[in-house]
Amino acid sequence: MNWEKHQVVEKSSILLVIGILIVVAIGGLVEIAPLFWLSSTIEKVQGMRPYTPLELAGRNIYVREGCYLCHSQMIRSLKDEVERYGHYSLAAESMYDHPFQWGSKRTGPDIARLGGKYSDEWHRAHMIDPRSVVPESVMPGYPFLAKTKLDYDDIGAHLKASAIVGVPYSDEMIENAKADLELQAGANTEALKDFLARYPKAQVRQFDGDPSYVSELDALIAYMQMLGTLVDFATFDAAGPNLR
Ligand code: HEC
Repeated sequence: MNWEKHQVVEKSSILLVIGILIVVAIGGLVEIAPLFWLSSTIEKVQGMRPYTPLELAGRNIYVREGCYLCHSQMIRSLKDEVERYGHYSLAAESMYDHPFQWGSKRTGPDIARLGGKYSDEWHRAHMIDPRSVVPESVMPGYPFLAKTKLDYDDIGAHLKASAIVGVPYSDEMIENAKADLELQAGANTEALKDFLARYPKAQVRQFDGDPSYVSELDALIAYMQMLGTLVDFATFDAAGPNLR
């Protein structure tokens, strides 16, 4: 082997740095260049729709209260995670999240597939006092959410802002945002059919069990109960047939 030539590089820091830069640049190109030829890095998946106004309001509370500091919403494709939490998360499942809520710490469990796991009553009790249902819990209680009226006068603006960054909210959705929010929180009206056409699979009911007003807890439970429920994993096939 010809060590002498290699010594030239080893002894000159400038040459070494230039060499490193070239190697790193090739690595970078291999990773980045293909992205310019892909029409999308997110595969479209059947069932995904933008959040309903009530779910979006709930998501805003989730962000406001910093729930992401203790909870992740990203199931990795590892056996132990898939067995505990369910099907690994798809990129498409967070494509309408601005910002995404993947989180980086699990003081509590991952909640990417929380929807339908518990009843609304359980969530109500758990949010007011976690230890009433999970005695060993270290999660803080959020009793004020049930007592606080949801401030949603500007929910249309929230939909509009999401639309600007690429969430497919139509003008009709933005126009009806406030009415849709009230409707999903339990006011049963004629408009229900139109609402469900706009937001397929949306769950409509009194989430916090108190019909007197729409509370922050209504919104948060509506959000939690839809997490991970939009894609039907009974029929989803990562190999393709379900992708469009
Ligand atoms: C200080 C960390 C911490 C924060 C902040 C926190 N949690 Fe938790 N959470 C936990 C822990 C620990 C558990 C597991 C024990 C339990 O169920 O209470 C948990 C459990 C849960 C569960 C049950 C999940 C399951 O699959 O059993 C839900 C739902 C939940 N949290 C929602 C929230 C929401 C919503 C917020 C924000 C309003 C929040 N958490 C804030 C620590 C936290």
